Amino acid sequence: MKKILPSLLAADFSNLQKDIREMEDIGIDMFHLDVMDGHFVPNISFGFPVIESIRKTTNKTLDVHLMVANPDIYVEEFCNIGSDMVSFHIEATNHADRLIDVIKNKGKRAGIVLNPQTPISTIKHILHKVDYVLLMTVNPGFGGQKFIEGMLEKIEELDKIRKDKKYNFLIQVDGGINIVTSKLCRDRGADLIVCGSFLFNSSNKEKTLSQLLK
Ligand code: DX5
Ligand code: ZN
Repeated sequence: MKKILPSLLAADFSNLQKDIREMEDIGIDMFHLDVMDGHFVPNISFGFPVIESIRKTTNKTLDVHLMVANPDIYVEEFCNIGSDMVSFHIEATNHADRLIDVIKNKGKRAGIVLNPQTPISTIKHILHKVDYVLLMTVNPGFGGQKFIEGMLEKIEELDKIRKDKKYNFLIQVDGGINIVTSKLCRDRGADLIVCGSFLFNSSNKEKTLSQLLK
């Protein structure tokens, strides 16, 4: 089943509870949380305390996207504070296989993330054990950027490998998602569609949500 995951990066940080409730009311059951450290990406967002507070606010699925250098140091703690899904970038670690084990041993779903420039071949040998693959459709670090069209071919390539090898991972896309790009990605095999500014800036979020899945 295809899902839209609102990225809380585009929410009102002074009243996250209100924005989370509003999303729950229109049927959202998974939230995407972007952790940025100012090293791996040129921006800083939020970390442990904010996610702990969000965990107390909602029982929906929390999908934590780590845009941090050295995720090896942090993944376990992100599992401990109530994340349901944790993903990290292949570009940020030499020990992806081990990190996936850490996340799964904590009983969480493990995801691997690829920047637009990173080929799928870099994760070939861990694809059998990940729960999801996040293909960045913008260069990570900021909300509100333009979708990179070339990523459509990458989604197709990953979907083909999944079919050929009979793997079970889900394909997630993140960045520049609107009604048009959501459909282009879903048609090529994406299952989990992260959407930040387009959904939060919409004046009729319920209608926008249904359009994003049409
Ligand atoms: C970008 C983040 C995204 C971001 C998407 O680095 O990983 O999750 O919030 O925002 P939009 O949908 O506005 O491109
Ligand atoms: Zn993200």
